[in-house]
Amino acid sequence: MLKGKRILLIVAGGIAAFKVHELIRLLRKQDAAVRCVLTETGARFVTPLSLQALTEDKVYSDMFSLTDESEMGHIQLSRDADLLVVAPATANILARMAGGLADDLASTVLLATDKPVLVAPAMNVRMWSHAATQANVEILTKRGIEFVGPNDGAMACNEFGPGRMSEPAEIVAAIESLLTVERPLAGRRALVTSGPTREAIDPVRYISNHSSGKQGHAIAAALAQLGAEVTLVSGPVAVPDPAGVTVVKIESADQMLAACLAAGAVDVAVCAAAVADWKMATPATAKIKKKAGAAPPALELTPNPDILATLSKAGPKRPRLVVGFAAETENLIANAVDKRTRKGCDWIVANDVSPATGTFGGDRNTVHLISAEGVQHWPTLSKERVAMQLAGAIALHLTRPRPAEAAE
Ligand code: C5P
Repeated sequence: MLKGKRILLIVAGGIAAFKVHELIRLLRKQDAAVRCVLTETGARFVTPLSLQALTEDKVYSDMFSLTDESEMGHIQLSRDADLLVVAPATANILARMAGGLADDLASTVLLATDKPVLVAPAMNVRMWSHAATQANVEILTKRGIEFVGPNDGAMACNEFGPGRMSEPAEIVAAIESLLTVERPLAGRRALVTSGPTREAIDPVRYISNHSSGKQGHAIAAALAQLGAEVTLVSGPVAVPDPAGVTVVKIESADQMLAACLAAGAVDVAVCAAAVADWKMATPATAKIKKKAGAAPPALELTPNPDILATLSKAGPKRPRLVVGFAAETENLIANAVDKRTRKGCDWIVANDVSPATGTFGGDRNTVHLISAEGVQHWPTLSKERVAMQLAGAIALHLTRPRPAEAAE
């Protein structure tokens, strides 16, 4: 199952490092390519020579070796891997990862990578249970770092409890489940809009809203994880660009529409952006000045184009599935059902954005998926989970035969 997969194994300093020989042997047995980065303390437990012999590759250890940097920079080490595995992961390397340190080759590679990372912690039971380590584990988990173990058991320090590194076979199983994620959307194209738009009043002022882009960005990331080729058209947001997604940054609704049309034919469009309903009829070309005693300026507004309705229009270029969002503060379901027909889209994801729900800018979301078949009520989930669940439903819809094909 791991044939041809490339694993960058980071070996930190701990007595459990002796297990990496068996780990490498099991990975190589499956024809995976393994390359090692050995930390300075790791080298006290295993030798570069033994790792080199088992991996049949050079072992990388010194960040400041100019020869290493010119032959294989730290960025290239991560680029050349499908997965980074830290085994054993000591309390120290977990703390350095959580803190974003880059003070040796291992931590620098871990900071520079955009690849999935699996860690196999190994440490004394009290170091594992310490609030500092647990806080670091929480930070890393939130960032998407995967953990295998630690297990309960007798340890080299004569204590008993969680802290023992997982067995090599368990680590291999975790690697397999991470690297063999199904990609049902491979070969499909997706368009996602996210964030707010900004409508200029004059060169220094604008009309906008509180959308953080968290939900739309998470949807783009989830679709990409399932293998889709994703274009994300985003208004100004503070959240980082998702990995593996083409991001087009725009400001106004007009620019968002133009970028969506320029993205070309797609299989699915998800309009999660909070597009401003109105723009200035004629934005001022110079800053509007305050004049003592004068009345405040009257802003003449005009409606923005409706991107969702435009993409939903029937025609040869219409995506097979168009998904809109309905952020409401009252009569959520009724308004959303009505919006689905009014806009002409296939699905509406309805969510309550009353201030008390904390949805705007928050990390969790309670949504209801409205389609021609009815309404599904989803439990309150993190925005990432909502995104994964929605991407899963999209994959299911796009991969099932169309009615005409089914009838053939
Ligand atoms: O009309 P309303 O703003 O409530 O509709 C929300 C849905 O329509 C969202 O999916 C939003 O992204 C989309 N929309 C749009 N263009 C607009 C207004 C809303 O794509 N001008």
